[in-house]
Order: sequence, then structure tokens, then C-alpha cells
Amino acid sequence: MTAEVPSDAGSSGAAHKLQNLKKIFNPKSVAIVGASSEPGKIGYQILNNVIQNGFKGKVYPINKKAPEILGVKCYPNLAECPTDVDFAVIAVPAPMVEGVLKECGEKKVKGAVIITSGFSEIGRKKEEQALKDIADKYDIALFGPNTFGFVYTPSNLNASFGPQNVSPGKVAFISQSGALGISLMGWTMMEKIGLAAVVSLGNKVDIGEKELIEYFNDDPNVRVILIYMEGIKDGRQFMTTKVKKPIVIIKSGTSTRGAQAAASHTGSLSGSDSIYSAAFNQLGMIRTRTFSQAFATASILSLPEPKGEDTLIITNGGGIGVNATDECEEFGVKLIDDQTWLEEKFRPSMPEYGSTKNPIDVTGGGGKEGYKKAVRVALAEDRIHAVVVLYCETAVLDPVDVAKLIIDEYNAVKRNKPLIVTMVGGERSRQAIQTLNENQIPAMAEVRQAAIGLKALYNWKDISSRSKEKVKIPEAPAKALEVIERVRKEGRTFLLEHESREVLEACGVPMPKWGFATTADEAAGMAEKSQMYPVAMKIASVDIIHKSDVGGVILNIKNAEEMRAKFFQMMETVKKNAPKAKILGVNLCQMVDGVQCIVGMNKDPQFGPAVMFGMGGVLVEILKDVSFRIVPFSEGDAQRLVGEIKAKKLLDGYRGQGAHKESIIKTLMAVQKIAEHVKEVDINPLITNVAGSYAVDARIII
Ligand code: COA
Repeated sequence: MTAEVPSDAGSSGAAHKLQNLKKIFNPKSVAIVGASSEPGKIGYQILNNVIQNGFKGKVYPINKKAPEILGVKCYPNLAECPTDVDFAVIAVPAPMVEGVLKECGEKKVKGAVIITSGFSEIGRKKEEQALKDIADKYDIALFGPNTFGFVYTPSNLNASFGPQNVSPGKVAFISQSGALGISLMGWTMMEKIGLAAVVSLGNKVDIGEKELIEYFNDDPNVRVILIYMEGIKDGRQFMTTKVKKPIVIIKSGTSTRGAQAAASHTGSLSGSDSIYSAAFNQLGMIRTRTFSQAFATASILSLPEPKGEDTLIITNGGGIGVNATDECEEFGVKLIDDQTWLEEKFRPSMPEYGSTKNPIDVTGGGGKEGYKKAVRVALAEDRIHAVVVLYCETAVLDPVDVAKLIIDEYNAVKRNKPLIVTMVGGERSRQAIQTLNENQIPAMAEVRQAAIGLKALYNWKDISSRSKEKVKIPEAPAKALEVIERVRKEGRTFLLEHESREVLEACGVPMPKWGFATTADEAAGMAEKSQMYPVAMKIASVDIIHKSDVGGVILNIKNAEEMRAKFFQMMETVKKNAPKAKILGVNLCQMVDGVQCIVGMNKDPQFGPAVMFGMGGVLVEILKDVSFRIVPFSEGDAQRLVGEIKAKKLLDGYRGQGAHKESIIKTLMAVQKIAEHVKEVDINPLITNVAGSYAVDARIII
């Protein structure tokens, strides 16, 4: 999962900064520079939050005039604070920030959060870079500028101007957007979803997602990381992030307009959305589209690791049970279906008319006792690896009572396996959901959210094992570089088909039988000798791009006689249609049958070279059924890439069709080798059948 590409992640400077983050989140002393006695000011709110949240360390409000604020003694500057200062919040107007940051450096402050706006987001990049230079010079880990601060519940520290009383939990929420971060903080509090941290990243001049993820990787108080992201400044550096804990990500800017808004909002560029998806996929990050899904998934991922994937559903209503079955099927959540065993285990705890088919239906008449018994059996049985409890609100059973009995049963078995609850109903159901969340049992109003989250939990084991996969920077073979260099020297920006074939073949791309000939006799002899028939013949000319438009493609040539005749016919037609074109000869290629795929490579401005795989031929235009991986990627990534496309059934062997996946994967790995040396590669189609895969057409742009 972690690419061995050059990065500053391992440099001692970056390692120091990670050390400093520890001081920021667990400081012994905090200074608030710009603390004010005016309740309307941000500097007042931050100081108030630090005090009200019960932070146990020393608090130093820095204010030039006031002797004390909110009962806490003030100091006119950092230098006069009586002890070391681990961490400073800076909330002074923009022109003062640089000076204050230098004061932090002189005081040997380890970390700082700059709340102040008015830097790169409004074009003041130079002023922002000056802050980065100071932070590097004094080895300060710097958040912001343009942030709302952060909250870290394990040390009771609320160094933000967001809401107070964030519930403790295991999820660290990192937000690139300030306003959205604050509002989502409020929303999690209303839903009683617990958080270990809320961090506003702002303009990310120093600390960004990568550094924070790597810090939280080793923080025992954090089990899951949830990120709201608008854009990444350095995609290639982001790809070196070490992922050790589940990461849920909401990336906005998927629409063209959204991307423009995101770019102007944070001063960062938003790359193409499918490349972002590829990057998240490759790193094992789980992308969700909605905020509520993101928080539901994150809460589910905080649950104990399941021992297998056999899921049991308990319900009091048939309708919601069917809905749950549909959702589980859609997202690949496996339901345990050993009917004899289920009947034996659950019948004693059910009314006669209840169903022991999974979903176990205790029915509306089952009451509190019915739920209690079924939940108890489900938690006790090792064959059941995860439990989903559904509840439809009825007048005979109070949802809050159901929530309480679930909490008691779950705690009694020390939360031994994943347990998720979905409750559908009115105000009491909502309260019950909040009660469950407060007790760190993921609860929600939509079964779909539970199914998506549970699948993510099951997948995590596989994702976490990917860190063992080796990713090497692929090396280009000398032969390939020689051809590319020759073309470059000729002043061309594209390779001819036979040159593209030479390069790709040297890299290890599987080819059909092929050749390049300048005369009819040479073509016939070559095809005869290598038993190439039936053959496709294509004109070779630097001046002709669309070969078929000028009569430069003839398919299915069956023997030497036909080859000679078609050669002369092609020369004549092409000369008539493109009289000025300099003709170099013809490309010959054996005709192959099979499933048409496409393999390509192009360069993303943020992530660099990305390899694409999908369904080829006409389908590539219509269905756009393609997926990407960022170079460099592992063989495991190449395998997952092939498994990601919608038409993967065709490759698994549908109605007599078949594919040779090993050679597709070999092709994807081979294309990586020249990714750094060329601009674009297009193998369309790569035809695959049970015997192998073949690059039937190839084009390289340099
Ligand atoms: N050292 C110590 N205190 C200083 C100082 C310095 N070098 N320079 C200024 N101060 C004090 C001021 O005297 C003032 O205290 P007072 O109220 O007792 O006079 C306090 O710091 C704040 O300065 P002030 O000039 O009143 O600014 P402000 O509070 O109106 O605004 C910011 C300051 C940082 C809040 C404002 O510039 C800003 O950036 N707001 C946007 C923040 C934001 O939205 N961030 C992104 C969130 S997502």
C-alpha cells in the first residue's frame, strides 16, 4: 500500500514534526495569543473553550493590555510566560501573525495553530510561505493558517472556536473546510457520535492529511480517521501515506463546478475525480458520498474486528427485514443461512409465529423479552460474526427500552463482536439512536448505512494486509529508452505503431505476431514465415493519424497472394487520399478474437502517471467502464484494478467468453515501466481470450 517513491516523510525534519504533534495534542501548557476580554471575539471564544472543556494543563492568555481574562492571568507576550509553552493558538490579525510565530520560535514552542485568515486563500502565497519558513527554522509543527483550531477529547482540550462538549469517542475527524467542520462537529454532538479529535486543517501550509494520518496511526486513542477533503496539494506525496487504521474519506468537488469552488475556497487544485477515487482505493481509504454515511461507516469501523463474515439480522418487522436483506445483498454482506441451526438456536426465544430464517423475526408480539433473548443468543454464538438489530417503532414497545437492553446485553459480553442497530420511527426512535451512539454502539435510521459500513468493516482485514505488498519503482528497459530517445531526436512527439510495439514489447507487454514491412514481398514473406495469417495490415506514416479515413487499414488478409494484392491496393488508395503523406511501409498484425479491453497511461497534474484499465473498443466511449491506479502500484493493485470494472463478469468467463487475467496484469505492470518517460500510452484494444492477451493496437505519445 505504501509506495517507495521519493518523499520527505522519512526525513528527520518531518519525523521531528510528528514528535511535536504529540505535544500539540497532549500539551502541559497552552498559550492563546490574541485572547480578548470581548466575548464577541474569536480570541475570547478559544480561551473560553480551553477553560470550559476542563483542560488540566497551564493556560496562558497573551494580551498586551488586560491583566486577566475569564479569571486567568494574562501575559503581554510569550517570552514572559513563566514556564515553557508547548503549544500556541494564534488569533491575531494577519499582519501580526509572522511576528507572533517568530516569538513562538524564540520561546521554543513545539506547535502552533494559526486561526487567522487572509493568506493563500486570497492569493497571499508569499506571506503564507514566510510562515512555513519560520515553522521549519524553529521546528514548529504548524496547523493552518485559516483554521478553526482543534479538539482532542483524551486530553480535554478544546483549542477551537467551535462548539463545546464534544462527546469522547474513537474517531478522529479531520476537516479541510472550517465552516463545514464546525457544523459537522455540532451535528455529531446532536447525534451523540463520539470523537477522539476534530482538527481543522485550513490552508495546510505545514501539517496536512498525510502528517496527521501518520500521527494518528500511532495514537492509541484513535481507531478510525475520517477526513473531509476538498483537494490535495501534492498527490504524489499523499500516495506515500502509511495507512494503518481505517480511513473514511469524503472528497467534495466531484462535479466540475464543485471542483472550481473547492479550488477557489482553499487555494488547492482539485484533480480529476476518478483519479482521486483511484488514489483512495489504492491507499485502502473508504470513500463515501454523504456525511451521515461517513460518520456511520466510521462508527462501525470503530467496532471490534469480526472473526468472519457471517452476519445475523434480528428484526421485529418483515418489511424492514426484507429491506435489510436487499441492502446486504447489494453490498456483499453475507447472511448466515444454515436454517436447521438457526431454528435450533433461536426457536426457544421466539413466539411460534416468528421466523427463524435470517433475518430472525421476533415479530411485533415478541416484545422486550423476545429481543433480549435473540440478541443474547446472537452475541453468545461464535458462528455468528456480526449482529444487525433492526427495530420498527410500535406502540407496544418503547425504542429507548430496546436500546437499553441492547446496551446491557452488549456490555455483558464485553462487546465481543460487531453490533449495529437501525431504528425506524419517530421522536422516541431518534432518542434511542442517540442513546446507543452515546454508548458507542453505531445506530442509524437507514439499513443501507449499516450494510455499507459493515462491508467496510469486513473489507478492512484485507485492506490492512496490503501493507505487506511490495511496490517498486519500475525501471524502463534500455531498448525502450533507446527507441523513445531516437524519436525525440527526430523531433517527433509520437511513436509510430511499430515503434510503440518495440517499446511495449521490451517492457513485457504481450503482443500478437506482428511485423513492419516496406514492400509487398517483404510483407508476404514475413507473414508466411511467422504463420501470422489471418493478418491486419495498417499504413505507417508520420503524416497520417486517422488511418482508416484514408483507406490505410485492411483486415483479415488470409494468404500471401491476397497480401500482395492488398498491399498495392492500399498504397494506391492512400496516395490518392493523402497525396502529401510520406509513406514508410505497413504494420502487420495477426488477427485475434476475444474480449476487447483498453489499457492506457496518462499524467495527472497532481498524482503524476496513472494507468487505466477497462472495457475497450466502442464500449470505452459509451460505458466509460474504466478504472485507474497511480504509478507505482503493486501486482495486488493491478489485480484489484481488473476486478473493479463493472463488466468484470465478462472477464470471469461469461457465455463462452473468457479472459487471461495473468497477462492483463502483466500488461498493466509493464506499462508502468515507461510511465516516467512518455506522456501517454494507449493500447486499444488489448484483446484477451483464454489463451492470452494481445496488444492489437498501440500508440505512445512523448
Ligand atoms: N500579541 C498579543 N495580542 C495581540 C497582538 C499581539 N501581537 N496583536 C493583536 N493582539 C490582540 C488585540 O489587541 C486583541 O485583543 P483585545 O480585544 O484585548 O484588544 C486580540 O489580539 C484580537 O485582535 P483584534 O485586532 O481585535 O482582531 P479580531 O479578534 O477582530 O480578529 C482574527 C483576529 C484572527 C480572529 C481575524 O483576523 C481573523 O482572521 N478572522 C477570521 C478567522 C477565521 O475565520 N478562521 C478560519 C476559520 S475556518
